[in-house]
Amino acid sequence: MPYLLGIDIGTTGVKTLLIDERGETVASCTVPHPLYTPRPGWTEQDPEDWWKGTVTSVQEVLRMSGVDPGAIAGIGLSGQMHSSVFLDRKDRVIRPAILWNDGRTTPQCRWMTELAGEENLRRWVANPALEGFTAPKVIWLRENEPENYRKVRTLLLPKDYVRFRLTGEKATEYSDAAGTLFLDVRNRRWSKEMLEALDIPEDILPPVYESVDVCGKVTKEAAELTGLKPGTPVVGGGADNACGATGAGVVREGRVLSSIGTSGTVVAPSKVVQVDPEMRAHTFCHSVPGMWYVMGVVLSAGGSLRWFKDALGQLEKVAEELTGVDAYDLLTKEAQRAEPGSEGLVFLPYITGERTPHRDADARGVFFGLSARHTRAHLVRAVLEGITFAMRDSLEIIRGLGIRVEEIRATGGGAKSPFWRQLQADVYGAPVYTPTNTEGPAFGAALMAGVGAGLFHDLADAADELVHIATTAEPDSERVRVYDEFYGIFRSLYPALKERFSETAELVRSKVAKGN
Ligand code: XUL
Repeated sequence: MPYLLGIDIGTTGVKTLLIDERGETVASCTVPHPLYTPRPGWTEQDPEDWWKGTVTSVQEVLRMSGVDPGAIAGIGLSGQMHSSVFLDRKDRVIRPAILWNDGRTTPQCRWMTELAGEENLRRWVANPALEGFTAPKVIWLRENEPENYRKVRTLLLPKDYVRFRLTGEKATEYSDAAGTLFLDVRNRRWSKEMLEALDIPEDILPPVYESVDVCGKVTKEAAELTGLKPGTPVVGGGADNACGATGAGVVREGRVLSSIGTSGTVVAPSKVVQVDPEMRAHTFCHSVPGMWYVMGVVLSAGGSLRWFKDALGQLEKVAEELTGVDAYDLLTKEAQRAEPGSEGLVFLPYITGERTPHRDADARGVFFGLSARHTRAHLVRAVLEGITFAMRDSLEIIRGLGIRVEEIRATGGGAKSPFWRQLQADVYGAPVYTPTNTEGPAFGAALMAGVGAGLFHDLADAADELVHIATTAEPDSERVRVYDEFYGIFRSLYPALKERFSETAELVRSKVAKGN
């Protein structure tokens, strides 16, 4: 029986997943890796750690499953988007990778926007200059570490660096390339206009393939290290968001992904390129050849609930230690003691700034409407509602672009609790389904390997055969009406507070600069 391997280079660890041809998990292993914050707002990782995590997790999955490596028909790679790996002329890593959630490049983003203009950015690369994306990181290197910049011969994304170590090939694919700001997303080729404007040589960028194309084979050396069979085909794979969507069956118009992990993403595929006129959501290439998607990103979705648990959930944490019941389950139970709308308590989940729709690194979290009647149950319910309202902001942009939203596929932590699934259905006003396979992007990457290895005709076929629905939540018309009203309040709060957020951020920055 043929098997498929998916490897996801995440921010917290490398996950390797082995599935059989029916899509069942045979073995899965995650190896964590460190994240370095050398300065406030900076985040970096050592690409060597990703490679070590890949070797260990592949070895472990082979050991646990006892599967003959020769029966693995193909490997798909998935990874955190945007993070930059700089290689020198001997293909050595020059400095730690600068990550997607690093905030150092605000001046470079301003410079790029002034240089090109928002209109040209929209035409050339379909996206605005945002701190997380790759191009501003390259400009940062040129301005701040010119001796390192002069050494750069190759620029790779995280999963593509692992591909290089696994196959010896320098390659990327459209879904990840789209997040660099160097790709002409409409025409699926590197943007000559963008590269020229920024004066970045095109030859540092690898060739771009489709996600399902085989673009390398496991080398003898990598096979010795991992236990894989030399010559095993490795397909392009995809950005974690594209792989997550694919693994949930979001490969057709009308299906939309709502993924709530630390960050939250809403991904809506489309057969034509759709760009939000205000570029509040991103437009990237999908892993499905000839498809794109619009994606909204809530920076602290599950992250806001984790903050609540750490700051105010001591009770649940102790209960978890004593009884083994998950603290998050206890918190969602507590939330159910309050009524929909939390009696007027509204939470803005901008605790690490916000991408969609505000593009504002200075925005901050808010509890609005606190009264003497409110209990901890209202606070936690307001957090869950606020996160879901922020996800709806992305959905509204998608609906506004005329992209069909017929069903939502929920994944991640937000899909685990029946309460939160129902809340999503009621806030989105659409049915919410969860897929049976909850392995995330590594599963989508394995499906891509299946197409590349010829087990399926295409990704839609693979999804039809292997992605099944586990749960359904239908929206309740009465609660939809209540949430619509509170969503109106939620939406009105950011514009009212925008100036206060930037004044406060300035004040905090000046205090930090003075050291008091
Ligand atoms: C997407 C983004 C994140 C990373 C996380 O634009 O920055 O979702 O891909 O891995």
